Amino acid sequence: MKGIILAGGKGTRLYPSTISISKQLLSVYDKPMIYYPLSTLMLAGIRDILIISTEEALPQFQTLLEDGSWLGVKFTYACQNQPRGLADAFLVGESFLGTDSVCLILGDNIFYGNGLSQMLMCAAEENQGATIFGCYVSNPSDFGVVEYDTDGNVLSLEEKPQNPKSNYAVPGLYFYDNTVVGIAKQIQPSSRGELEITAVNNVYFAQNRLKVLPMRRGIAWLDTGTHRTMLKAANFVETIQSRQGLYISCIEEIAWHKGFITLEQLLERGKILKNSDYGAYLLRLGQIFKKQNGSERYEST
Ligand code: DAU
Repeated sequence: MKGIILAGGKGTRLYPSTISISKQLLSVYDKPMIYYPLSTLMLAGIRDILIISTEEALPQFQTLLEDGSWLGVKFTYACQNQPRGLADAFLVGESFLGTDSVCLILGDNIFYGNGLSQMLMCAAEENQGATIFGCYVSNPSDFGVVEYDTDGNVLSLEEKPQNPKSNYAVPGLYFYDNTVVGIAKQIQPSSRGELEITAVNNVYFAQNRLKVLPMRRGIAWLDTGTHRTMLKAANFVETIQSRQGLYISCIEEIAWHKGFITLEQLLERGKILKNSDYGAYLLRLGQIFKKQNGSERYEST
């Protein structure tokens, strides 16, 4: 399975902060926003990743992430000139995907919590149809909304409905088989002129090939759409990290736990970043792990 991080758009809701820099490069507490969705793909075991952004922002993403070898993953970069919609990711990414299945994650979606890794690994193993998630929220009208029965059968799927049929929002994390490319080519732009991901999901639904998994209460899905929600996300990350002393979405740590890189590579990286708390954390990681005798691997998310 391959991964796509969609990190384009103009970020106009965050103006003036995003006039000269991509939203997904802004910091959420102590690391660039894109680290969070990247960590989610890595936890799903995905190592071949396409980063889609605007022509202006791509060189900055390349400076930050390079070819990925330092992380034991492979990054490819592609340009989306206009924000034509989330489903456009499969048209931009067609040659990258080839015949593979794909996990698409939005560059501004943050996930953290108990059981996340396991849920992601399960979804990534599924190579048929589509898997999306349902997350209980108080403001479903702001999102794609899925209605499903107690057996997990989808009953309806709507994009930002005025009168939502359920409180289950669909977060920006989607697993598809390779037919998604053909489906993205078929769908028509919505009234707001975008190739909607909900239209793609509705095709899978009509074909009886759409699965929805509940994202349980123990998993936090954080929004970074506005300055206020970005601040809330930053406060959340700071609270957990300072309380536990363990980091959220530390991509080097995840790469090490997954066996993508060695401890030596992780420490090398720590030396480069050593003037920051993040770098100091990397340098401490070997010791934190030794204290646990290697018997209990803490879950890195
Ligand atoms: O966050 C989850 C929601 O994301 C889902 O519940 C909705 O079903 C889905 O449509 C989407 O809604 P948003 O209105 O939040 O999407 P937005 O247009 O804000 O785009 C999300 C991110 O994707 C944003 O960081 C910019 C990026 N993007 C967006 C578009 C339309 C692109 O890179 N290219 C695009 O063409």
